[in-house]
Amino acid sequence: MPRDHATANGQVKGAAPGNESALYGMILENIDRAVIAFDHEGCVTLLNPAAEALMERSSRQMRGRHCQELFKDQETLLYLVRVALEEGRSITDDEGLYLHRTSTAPLPVNAYAAPIFASRGNQEGAVIIIRDLSRIRALEDSLRRADRLSMLGTLAAGLAHEIKNPLGGIKGAAQLLSMELGEESSLRDYTQIMIKEAERINVIIEELMDLGNPRPPEIGDVDLTKVLDDIILLQREAARSQQIRFVLKFDPSIPPVQGDEGLLTRLFLNLVKNAREAINHDGEVLIETRIASNYHMTGPGRRSSPMVDIAISDTGCGIAPEERDRIFTPYFTTKNKGSGLGLAIAQKIIEDHQGLLKIESSPGHGTTMTVSLPLRR
Ligand SMILES: Nc1ncnc2c1ncn2[C@@H]1O[C@H](COP(=O)(O)OP(=O)(O)O)[C@@H](O)[C@H]1O
Ligand SMILES: [Mg+2]
Repeated sequence: MPRDHATANGQVKGAAPGNESALYGMILENIDRAVIAFDHEGCVTLLNPAAEALMERSSRQMRGRHCQELFKDQETLLYLVRVALEEGRSITDDEGLYLHRTSTAPLPVNAYAAPIFASRGNQEGAVIIIRDLSRIRALEDSLRRADRLSMLGTLAAGLAHEIKNPLGGIKGAAQLLSMELGEESSLRDYTQIMIKEAERINVIIEELMDLGNPRPPEIGDVDLTKVLDDIILLQREAARSQQIRFVLKFDPSIPPVQGDEGLLTRLFLNLVKNAREAINHDGEVLIETRIASNYHMTGPGRRSSPMVDIAISDTGCGIAPEERDRIFTPYFTTKNKGSGLGLAIAQKIIEDHQGLLKIESSPGHGTTMTVSLPLRR
């Protein structure tokens, strides 16, 4: 629900004298919140670069437009502007608000609208400030998943440990039996099956233990370009029976990230493999790296750092909305030969690197998984 503020401390002042107004201008240019000002008719008078980015329209396309047109069918945003314009009050909405745009998916945002008063006290119009919350939402989702996973992981690791010992006993006994039976006994086929199956369980158990308690990361400088190049090489080979184009768009200016090369390789291998497997016959897997502009991680107890985004997009089957939350659950799989552990392990590795994962998917069209890693630890 929108929340009212006392007008006295909520108002945004008009022009500032002298140098200060240049400074005001610079602040507007540089902040990452979209700022859009309206005259008393409700037509756009001013907007900053962040507003152009958020609205996905240029300043020229928006200037002079009426708010009704700008926020067409977006009742809450219109309501905020109206309250600020017509009632001269400032007002906030930060719950469940989405900005609808034509080309891309709705963006979670919060918004604050305030009247603009000239120095003489007359109201000049109103301003709305909109903040993109998608990063924060991704961080929250990531933490929620990690929480659930760590509980499951502890349980799984305990269980795995308990199974591993008796399993060793079964395998040992089968081996002894096999020796006792001698080379020519027809019963040896059975003991061989016992040994083989016990080994298979062992592999599963070890994977499970990895999930609960993987080795502590060995931190070093990791060249992401190299890691991703190697993965593509392998995946191209694996995709020989399909018509898949692997497209790489690396930002060459990205410095090495601090992380565990083995774990990061495993992480991206899992994601690229999923992208490949999501494509039935022909399609494209696009891997893009870029520095996340102006973004600093501000998780609890963490030092802020610039982030690097690694986006893996596919033109595959997409993920149904009702499966979104389940795909991270260990052993959840929609594939015949899937283990269902890939994403659970990926999430764990991301968490260990203080990163986060964002998922965008459109069923029938494809999926983008974006891993954000801090450049410094
Ligand atoms: N890129 C993707 N496109 C579509 N579905 C995906 C994608 N990545 C993961 N999934 C879904 O998430 C499930 C779990 O993935 P994962 O944990 O890697 O296990 P697995 O690949 O063994 O099934 C998959 O079975 C699939 O349904
Ligand atoms: Mg997988």
